Amino acid sequence: MRQSSKISKLTGLRAGFALFSIFALIGISGAAIAADAAPMAPAAEAKAAAPAKPKIDPAVGEALYSNGDASRGVTACITCHGPKGQSAISTWPKLSAQHAAYTAKQLKNFKEGTRANPIMMGMSAALTEQDMQNIAAYLSKQAISQGVAQNKETIELGQSIYRGGIAAKGVPACAACHSPTGAGIPAQYPLLGGQWADYTNAQLLAFREGVRKNSSQMTAIATKLSDQEMKAVADYIAGLH
Ligand code: HEC
Ligand code: HEC
Repeated sequence: MRQSSKISKLTGLRAGFALFSIFALIGISGAAIAADAAPMAPAAEAKAAAPAKPKIDPAVGEALYSNGDASRGVTACITCHGPKGQSAISTWPKLSAQHAAYTAKQLKNFKEGTRANPIMMGMSAALTEQDMQNIAAYLSKQAISQGVAQNKETIELGQSIYRGGIAAKGVPACAACHSPTGAGIPAQYPLLGGQWADYTNAQLLAFREGVRKNSSQMTAIATKLSDQEMKAVADYIAGLH
């Protein structure tokens, strides 16, 4: 009896040890699984926490364009640039249908000051890069606003400069970069066709005078143009489409 009880105690111990070993094994492998999983967890967390690049949102751009944001000091762009970017006043440029990358670049340039304009430097100061891209995306989807050339006397000169440049002065054809229809070539060369002549003329002057310093290409070209040539080509561009 004693003997058998000893044996049963022993087997009981053995069984207990075996059981313990199994738990230990499970424990270790469990820890191993946890260890394996451990490096995953922070990575997954980082993915969720990293400021996922916000998507460009034209609808958000439209709201900011049309209503501004008083809480951040953003004025409604529509006040000057008109509904859908189709400005009705010749000193305020039309923005509709412009290539988004160009528009966003201009807003950045105003904010940085490489394009000096007191009004637009103020307007762009409160805009974030995301705002600029949202507004630019919205404007690029709006229909182009066409115009007409006003001055019959200069239209031929304007057309010849736009299409062929001025060989004697080394002025290249505007069409080479801005395309024959004035639609430009995305993303580098802006749409010009249909723009207000007053505004286009003012930009050519700003490039020449060094007020607008955000394009060495355009500065080089404008430096070679006389006042009369600028006016002629600006008027021609207004009717171009
Ligand atoms: C008070 C009138 C006014 C308001 C409001 C205004 N702008 Fe302007 N904007 C101008 C004027 C004037 C110019 C021409 C600046 C120059 O001659 O360089 C201009 C130029 C621009 C240009 C350059 C266009 C081009 O073809 O290069 C962009 C882009 C622009 N504005 C976007 C905006 C946006 C976006 C807002 C709203 C956040 C805004 N503007 C609000 C008056 C205004
Ligand atoms: C070599 C290419 C090239 C040629 C040729 C060229 N341009 Fe440009 N033009 C540009 C680029 C690039 C810009 C955009 C500059 C920027 O990023 O602000 C520009 C911008 C402009 C703008 C400003 C548009 C706006 O909405 O403010 C006007 C106006 C303009 N060009 C007129 C002309 C005229 C007129 C000619 C011909 C006499 C001409 N360009 C020839 C490259 C060119």
